[in-house]
Amino acid sequence: MPAANTPSSLLIRIRKALVWWGGFLEARGRLLKVTAFRNTAVSATISLQQLTEQLEQLEAEAAKAIGAAGSAAELEDLRVGLLGKKGKLSAVLGAMGKLPGPERPLVGQRANVLKEQVQGLLGERLSAVKAAAMAERIAAETLDVTMPSRFTPAGHRHPLISTIEEIVDIFSGLGYRVEEGPEIETDHYNFTALNIPPHHPARDMQDTFYLSEHELLRTHTSPVQIRHLENNPPPVRIVAPGRVYRRDAVDATHSPVFHQVEVLAIDEGLDFSHLRGTVTTFLQRFFGDLPVRFRASYFPFTEPSAEVDVQWRGRWLEVMGCGMVDPAVLEGLGIDPERYSGFAAGLGVERFCMVRHGIDDIRRLFTSDLRFLEQF
Ligand code: DAH
Repeated sequence: MPAANTPSSLLIRIRKALVWWGGFLEARGRLLKVTAFRNTAVSATISLQQLTEQLEQLEAEAAKAIGAAGSAAELEDLRVGLLGKKGKLSAVLGAMGKLPGPERPLVGQRANVLKEQVQGLLGERLSAVKAAAMAERIAAETLDVTMPSRFTPAGHRHPLISTIEEIVDIFSGLGYRVEEGPEIETDHYNFTALNIPPHHPARDMQDTFYLSEHELLRTHTSPVQIRHLENNPPPVRIVAPGRVYRRDAVDATHSPVFHQVEVLAIDEGLDFSHLRGTVTTFLQRFFGDLPVRFRASYFPFTEPSAEVDVQWRGRWLEVMGCGMVDPAVLEGLGIDPERYSGFAAGLGVERFCMVRHGIDDIRRLFTSDLRFLEQF
């Protein structure tokens, strides 16, 4: 275009340029004003730098507080106060919305790092606090296994008890059940039912302490035979250990209080050979090969009857009575003696114990002298 090189066109261009420049300056002025305004507006609320600083400060504060916490409860309070919904971190992040969009992720990232750090510190401190509490407890509850113990003597069974246990054990092995009866008996069970009616001379041989006209301290364990047979029809095999009483003068082999083990077997077809076989087997198990003798004897409740002696301190010592149960006893119980028969025995526990251990005097078993008892 020719107009482009004319003076008038030049003027026009200069004018245009000036107008543009003016516009530029004006626009710049406005822009500066806006910028200035915006700067003042941000500093009135928050800047990226400030937020970052706040987070850093929070981090330092948190580390200090967590380091000083002394219990799990304190740490939990700190966690809520720092990371909870209404906690300090949430408060700082609340201001994040006022930052220009591109800056927000920077703060978000920084906040996540902080959160993780705080969680890590809380966890570490919690373990430390727990470990310290445990260490304190262990220290307080320390048990010195090298300390000398307080001496408590263990003690052991009285020789009479272990003798009873051993006797009962042998009979258990032969198929016998254990029964017990009362020490205060009626004269019916202690005497009459055993074929010892009132005024029978055998009552004198077993004189005892009467508690009333018909109640007495049992003189033997034989009444358990009657009590058991009353409630248990044959076949029957029982042993009945227990304490018995008699008005006996005390000497080396007699005591007014002593122990017996009663033996009773009732069945079809039992005869004296069963009695002898059972007693011999038992004595062999208890004493081994000690010389034993059966001696004919008399008991009102057995027929025939025998006493058994064993060697003790160079002489024979009676240790048990036995016999075939008298048919009169069975009849009294309503048991047919034509069908059932059986044998019974009464063992003197003290004497078994004395023979077994070579004890010279029955009184040693009752005086509770530890120098004696500790030997068993
Ligand atoms: N009860 C008798 C007594 O103490 C001992 C006794 C003998 C018991 C013969 C028995 C027996 O069972 O059959 O002298």
